[in-house]
Amino acid sequence: MEILKTKSEMNNWSKNKKKESKTICLVPTMGYLHKGHISLVEKGKPLCDELVLSIFVNPAQFGPNEDLNSYPSNIKNDLALAQKAGVTAVFLPEKGNIYPENFQTKVALQHLPGFLCGKFRPVHFAGVATVVTKLFNIVMPDIAVFGQKDYQQLQIIRQLTLDLDFNINIVAGDIIREKDGLAMSSRNTYLSGPQRVSALSLSKSLNLARELIAGGETNPYTIKNRLERLIRSFAETNIEYICFCDPQTLEDMEKIDRQVLLAMAVNVGKTRLIDNALINPSQ
Ligand code: PAJ
Repeated sequence: MEILKTKSEMNNWSKNKKKESKTICLVPTMGYLHKGHISLVEKGKPLCDELVLSIFVNPAQFGPNEDLNSYPSNIKNDLALAQKAGVTAVFLPEKGNIYPENFQTKVALQHLPGFLCGKFRPVHFAGVATVVTKLFNIVMPDIAVFGQKDYQQLQIIRQLTLDLDFNINIVAGDIIREKDGLAMSSRNTYLSGPQRVSALSLSKSLNLARELIAGGETNPYTIKNRLERLIRSFAETNIEYICFCDPQTLEDMEKIDRQVLLAMAVNVGKTRLIDNALINPSQ
């Protein structure tokens, strides 16, 4: 496994692979890898010859009061996990290499960031779109894999790939969960013992919504009330949003009469957790 520390090293590596007619898959991450990240590597590996994993905690996607300075990191462990998963190259750039002095450009989408998390994190998705555009240009992948855990991010990447004419196939990976249902996240490490219990309120409320919809409930407001009550019954929870929306446009749905995206963000103590599920009324 090669470790490439600058964008020119990374770009030259990719150019050489392309000369050898090798296809490249990119899995972008911010590190502190868990099984969710590794599942994306496993998804991408059979689809290409070379698997590049990037690790970069992107300052541009953190708001002023967010956790940039405390974001967890364990590069040694990340490299061991990447090697074990069969990654062929790790791209590990420094901040100054990605954002040199006088960096000025922002990639911002018009509509998709106006929903869900974007309402509460106004700079976040422009930061994501900018860094992913740069990663696409530097790594020049044929395929890139993103997790459905960050559903809005995935939709934004799909749209920017289309809008900016990247010839990259965007592949989605399922949400990987702990045995008890909690969606894996690097941020779960912030949770205390009791908060870890409260964190289950997200996956439990997704399950409750599935049951209610399977039972014929079509009114999103009725279901939302039930989910709010369930989540509030857990200590230290503070709901940011619960939305039933169209899986493509992310616009609110008034009646659940076709596939719906149920997405939520809940603060547990100071830790912001997100989760989502695609639910079909017919199932
Ligand atoms: P990060 O939070 O490290 O996540 C990297 C990738 O792993 C994303 O595509 C995310 O959706 C996926 N992922 C996280 N938890 C997952 C889980 N439990 N199951 C499946 N996939 C999961 O998302 C980012 O980094 C950044 O915004 C990035 C795209 C790297 C741009 O900076």
